[in-house]
Amino acid sequence: MTPVLHTESPIALVTGASSGTGRDIAIALAEDGCDVGILGRRTAALEETAQRIRALGRRACVLTADVCDEQAVAAAVEVFLAWSGGRSDVLVNAAGIPGPLGATVGELALADFDAVMATNLRGPFLTMSHLLPVMCRQGRGRVVNIGGNHGMRGRAGRASYATSKWALRGLTRSAALEAGPHGVTANVVAPGAIAVERMRQRWADQAAAEGVSEEVVLARYVQSLGVALQRPNETADVVATVRFLVSEGGRNITGQEIVVDGGVIV
Ligand SMILES: NC(=O)c1ccc[n+]([C@@H]2O[C@H](COP(=O)([O-])OP(=O)(O)OC[C@H]3O[C@@H](n4cnc5c(N)ncnc54)[C@H](OP(=O)(O)O)[C@@H]3O)[C@@H](O)[C@H]2O)c1
Repeated sequence: MTPVLHTESPIALVTGASSGTGRDIAIALAEDGCDVGILGRRTAALEETAQRIRALGRRACVLTADVCDEQAVAAAVEVFLAWSGGRSDVLVNAAGIPGPLGATVGELALADFDAVMATNLRGPFLTMSHLLPVMCRQGRGRVVNIGGNHGMRGRAGRASYATSKWALRGLTRSAALEAGPHGVTANVVAPGAIAVERMRQRWADQAAAEGVSEEVVLARYVQSLGVALQRPNETADVVATVRFLVSEGGRNITGQEIVVDGGVIV
């Protein structure tokens, strides 16, 4: 993949880089030549990501912070910008939580709703608030927010999650219009189900409980979601789209949502 933005050692910040999709995005950006700030709450897991980035010959900056916490994000960004020499070329907001599964509006607790909105929407708002001005001053930058295909439709029992991912689209499109004149793009990648550790464990537990194979559970799951290609994403599917958006090929794409879901939203 073309090194992002044609700058020497581009600087990226990836939230949610301690596991799953965010971790794999951070490592892919390092493979593509970025030095990467990696943010999450679990320091030990972030250190493992950092080791993998350093093994690629790139620099990594571990930032332990809760994306919901305004002060913690401000402090982490300060450390990040001191580490990067004030530069910020790529921001990927991948930190996110699914929230309650199955609670209808009426059953859904306000605290659960607020927690999902704080992580999935307030978090990206906070990092963008700090780093978009830096990118605009530089005259270059790429923001990629990891949404979800539940932000492209309604889903019974997932109101908090769907609301957060819909709202992320509004935030991203508005920022794209504001930052566009300064050479900065902002887009959403909206995946369907991704086979991260957390999801694989859920499928394995269900298979064990029912005494069937994981393949049976998975086949039933993708059928229930109506996935045309009949498979969940691997993190690599989402990583590839992020890589494209931050590469030279993505320079004229902004304010868009790219759905990566095997053909659910069709
Ligand atoms: N998995 C799926 O099926 C799926 C489908 C569509 C979209 N997505 C979206 O893809 C993104 C990544 O999800 P995933 O399933 O790959 O992740 P995951 O393995 O569940 O990991 C979630 C990441 O988010 C971080 N995180 C969560 N809450 C945080 C907080 N308050 N502050 C800082 N970091 C926080 C976690 O780090 P710490 O625990 O270290 O804080 C972790 O690195 C999310 O935005 C998710 O909504 C996932």
